[in-house]
Amino acid sequence: MSTVKTVDPEISPDPALSPQVLRFPAGFHWGTATSSFQIEGAAELRAPSIWDDFCRVPGTIADGSDGLVAVDHYHRYREDVALMASLGMDTYRFSVSWPRVLDPDGSTNAEGLGFYDALVDELCQAGIRPWLTLYHWDLPSYLPGGWLNRDTASAFVDYALRVHAVLGDRVRVWTTLNEPWCASFLSFAGGAHAPGHTVPAEAYTAGHHLLLGHGWATQALRAADPSATLGLTLNFTPAHPAEPTDPDDLSVVRRIDGTAHRFFTDSVFRGEYPGDVVRDAGASWPSGLVHDGDMAAIATPFDVLGVNYYTSQLIRAGAPSEAPTPHPAAPDAVEVPRPALPRTDMGWEVTPDAFRDLLVHLHENYTGPSGVRLAITENGCAIDDPDPAQGPIDDVRRIEYLATHLRAVHQAIEAGAAIDTYLAWSLIDNFEWAFGYQKRFGLVAVDPDLNRLPKASAHWYGEVARTDTLCVPQAH
Ligand code: GCO
Repeated sequence: MSTVKTVDPEISPDPALSPQVLRFPAGFHWGTATSSFQIEGAAELRAPSIWDDFCRVPGTIADGSDGLVAVDHYHRYREDVALMASLGMDTYRFSVSWPRVLDPDGSTNAEGLGFYDALVDELCQAGIRPWLTLYHWDLPSYLPGGWLNRDTASAFVDYALRVHAVLGDRVRVWTTLNEPWCASFLSFAGGAHAPGHTVPAEAYTAGHHLLLGHGWATQALRAADPSATLGLTLNFTPAHPAEPTDPDDLSVVRRIDGTAHRFFTDSVFRGEYPGDVVRDAGASWPSGLVHDGDMAAIATPFDVLGVNYYTSQLIRAGAPSEAPTPHPAAPDAVEVPRPALPRTDMGWEVTPDAFRDLLVHLHENYTGPSGVRLAITENGCAIDDPDPAQGPIDDVRRIEYLATHLRAVHQAIEAGAAIDTYLAWSLIDNFEWAFGYQKRFGLVAVDPDLNRLPKASAHWYGEVARTDTLCVPQAH
């Protein structure tokens, strides 16, 4: 955004226009994030995943697209790493595709694992810290029952160890799961993500098995590599009551918070599913789901909580709806739009203050007391950028979004939160799940020939990263 850099505090007569200049702590890490299914392509070189299957179901993906070619990162990773280096990034969070590295018969796909071996080498040579996510939703289709089957949690441990055996000498930061809420509640109750079911009991089952896989894999990785940094990434969409004193509004917000957040935070930090979450689930809570020892395994200590944040919501209680919902305990939830707030191309309201409050809340109530660090593993926005063929993309709204959210991170650090990493979502425009390629989150555009074209935001963010300094116009 032009005003971000051009308003000079020395000469501006209007304090409302003077930029705030914020310095991040020395050693703060800057980077970008992606995931395998969203960028790699080269689907013919791996086994199918549940997302390949889901994309084939008519009507599931807005533009009818799939991940077969995606943005061809599999063949262009060298160019992509060079791009990151040229932008001054020091960290890259990527995910490994489970069906690319393990074949249906259980054997290792040497070529598939070799791809990640080469990618990690390329990153290390470019001075970029590899941050590896083991599971970003592309579950192999060949696993019977997927996350509804407890055996998938054990299979995840085997997969984690086999990837670690090859990459662990160079990859020092390991995230087990990305957004298990999406892989359970959004996928099994909301029906919006693979495998597209709408059965609330399945959401609790899948969520528990995902968490079990996280806990067991954390134990196994810790035993194999005691000095590795291990973590989990959760997504947070804080819900606020439309009427802060209305008991019905407060109740529906509590129930959303229960399944969207506390199901995960309270299990990994406190070793329990909150009593109200289990009560609210009622008959949907699967009997026999939790075995002896499960909660202790899920609460295995780890080092870093990854936070993915995009927006917050104002919610009121309305008439219960019969429609499938990813919030199975809150069928009465109604979102109340706030017309004064800007919205991204996803229709998500831009709410950086809620981001600051969330980070402080997590630090005070979960990570701080456990001695766990926080990292921003995703933050960014979809903007309906112009066609790259029309010339360089001057994505001022993305810069504004990033600037105000980085200021929120800075404020949280000043309030005491232990945050040392910010990773923008995303390096490059990519396959945005059920929205296909229509929603563009990248700092870098891709033209129809798959050429990479950095947007203004890429250059702006690179400057922030290189200088550890952020300028935000006061008006924001
Ligand atoms: C998620 C994922 C990413 C998304 C991003 C934008 O949060 O859904 O981690 O894969 O692409 O968040 O929606």
